[in-house]
Amino acid sequence: MVSCQKINSNDKYVEGNIKITQKEFAETLSNLPPDVREKIIKDRAVFLSYIEWFIKISDQDKNFIFFPVDKARKLPENFNPSDLKDLDKEGFPVNKKGMQLRANTIAALKEMSSDAAANGIELLVSSAFRSYEYQKNLYNYYVGIHGKEETDKFSALPGASQHQLGTVIDFGSITLEFKDTPEGKWIKENGWKYGFSLSYPENYEKITGYNYEPWHYRYITKEGALVEKEFFNGLQYLFLNYLAEYMDFFRANVIADK
Ligand code: DAL
Ligand code: ZN
Repeated sequence: MVSCQKINSNDKYVEGNIKITQKEFAETLSNLPPDVREKIIKDRAVFLSYIEWFIKISDQDKNFIFFPVDKARKLPENFNPSDLKDLDKEGFPVNKKGMQLRANTIAALKEMSSDAAANGIELLVSSAFRSYEYQKNLYNYYVGIHGKEETDKFSALPGASQHQLGTVIDFGSITLEFKDTPEGKWIKENGWKYGFSLSYPENYEKITGYNYEPWHYRYITKEGALVEKEFFNGLQYLFLNYLAEYMDFFRANVIADK
């Protein structure tokens, strides 16, 4: 542990295994909303220990687990997750055959579905992994019906869909009504405990680039969803943008294990 070693009179190291100065740490927080910044500063040792964990997870994962897939940041055309598994063999309620998800997401879904079932809630999986090619056809199909401008509000261009990660699930009816169903309410309240995060929240359409989608959840690990909730006001874009912007900087300053 490095505890507040002085490097000059007013710039001290932040405590923990990531060796950065208070000033450097504050700079990483400078674009965040004041309440988020405050929460992180107040609990910075815990926050930084999670950052260390996220570095480890993303280095092991190599499947864009925390990468903020959005209109500006696309996945490579040839990217397919390395550990996709068939949902048909897993016994989940599904609305079509042949769907796939990553192993980590299936494990999280298993735990969540079983706790939901204990509360009388049945979580229906309606869409899961989509390849680049599949998304291309889907997007073009919608453009044919609705035109490009309208389609861009609810369907991602190939490469820009989080579904290509294999960690995303659309639940239930895939309509706005889902938010008022017992299932929609249950996931909104409890999804984070299993690592699921709402990607396109209400009132953030301009920022995320998409209409509110109460059915679309992305698995970001339990620790990720916890940190998103506790520090980043439950806002996925804010959390993942922060990691995308500063993870390399933190990684370069982790004190090596002895
Ligand atoms: N409906 C979301 C934005 C997608 O197409 O991935
Ligand atoms: Zn979706």
